[in-house]
Amino acid sequence: MDSLISTFSNLVDQEVTIRGWVQHVRSSGSIVFLQVRDGSGFVQAVASKALVDEASWTAATSATMESSVEVTGLVAKHPKQPGVYELQVTRILLLQRAEEYPLGKKEHGPDFLLDNRHLWLRAPSQWAVQRVRDCIIRATYEWFHQHDYVKIDSPILTPSACEGTTELFEIDYFGERSAYLSQSGQLYLEAAIASVGRCFDFGPVFRAEKSKTRRHLIEFWMMDAEAAFVDHEQNMKIQEQLIEHIVSKVLTECRAELTILERDVKPLENVKAPFYRLTHAEAISKLHELGSDIGDMDDLGADDETTLTKLYDKPLFIEKYPTAVKAFYMKRDPQDETRVLNSDLLAPEGYGEISGGSQREDNYDKLLERIREHNLPVEAFRWYLDLRKYGSVTHSGFGYGLERIVAWICGLHHVRETIPFPRLINRLEP
Ligand code: 4AD
Ligand code: MG
Repeated sequence: MDSLISTFSNLVDQEVTIRGWVQHVRSSGSIVFLQVRDGSGFVQAVASKALVDEASWTAATSATMESSVEVTGLVAKHPKQPGVYELQVTRILLLQRAEEYPLGKKEHGPDFLLDNRHLWLRAPSQWAVQRVRDCIIRATYEWFHQHDYVKIDSPILTPSACEGTTELFEIDYFGERSAYLSQSGQLYLEAAIASVGRCFDFGPVFRAEKSKTRRHLIEFWMMDAEAAFVDHEQNMKIQEQLIEHIVSKVLTECRAELTILERDVKPLENVKAPFYRLTHAEAISKLHELGSDIGDMDDLGADDETTLTKLYDKPLFIEKYPTAVKAFYMKRDPQDETRVLNSDLLAPEGYGEISGGSQREDNYDKLLERIREHNLPVEAFRWYLDLRKYGSVTHSGFGYGLERIVAWICGLHHVRETIPFPRLINRLEP
């Protein structure tokens, strides 16, 4: 019977066949121990010379690291470790004998691992990261669909910027004009809410950012969400609930993965709404108390975020940033026109910004003024301005960076490990 390792707890004493790759092989005379991975999990297959035919014994003894194999055997409980299963081999077939495998025999530096990303993905830690990533994606779709959101796909090729023109990837569009790779689908979702009310997108976005930090990728996956009749305050509540749902789903479904990653789950178990909140002004005074010389109306840098989040044991919202450091579409705070109704959500343990959102400017004249102030081409934003002419409503939204969330939940230092094939300033391969 063809089976997956992940179902072995239901198959004790039954004969099964698995197909996969040999992670390690160790032999002690008449017994060969093969650590086999089939995608769903890992199992030790034990082949005894006395119990298998000659062809199987030859296959077992000649299997190398990362050889592909088909193994048939009896599922057995591990003699010492509860919850762990073994396979007592009755037959083994070598599908392809791998050449000398370049990874895993010693510690490797990040550059070597990234050069070999196509192989590194097979490591248990990377298996675990990709499975957590998948769980976060599923949790996100699940939460939105439980809350009446519709998935709307934003375009990737766009005629203008969403998040500032300095980080735009420009491409030649049939020799006639320029097109830009999307930085965020937000503006398109703002159009779609007048059709479906609440919506989200999820896809790759691009930032030609010359930053070499542990939080920046050139291509990353963003989830944008937008909702009509939602104000700044409700917008933060939505983010709280979504993030709480994501973390709790990972905690229930990815225990084994978090164990492989040696992730301390205590701080994750604490991720329950309500999260902490500071205004930007309060955050600046806290930083001053801690000895920083940041200006009162400065944007927060990555180091400032790290300092702040280390003070808190749950995610932290920082709201109402100075107008000058934020995007053109954010609505100004009616109580203080020098600030906008926005929030950045910072993950604890020093991780920093994972999600950014705001209430949007819904007044035609004010929006036009902002577009001009930001020196953006008004023509390219005609369609966006139209949305303020035909039934404009209060609305808000936010976007999260999937890789930042994966890094935080998995407890990884750098986002480059969270995406299957990272794109960095100095890396386009493999
Ligand atoms: O804060 P950002 O730039 O916000 C927007 O793009 C809004 N239009 C979203 C919206 O309101 N719909 O980006 C959103 C998130 C950030 O909070 C961060 O998590 C992530 O995207 N992010 C990056 N992740 C990896 N590499 C980069 N270079 C990133 N830039 C932003
Ligand atoms: Mg941001």
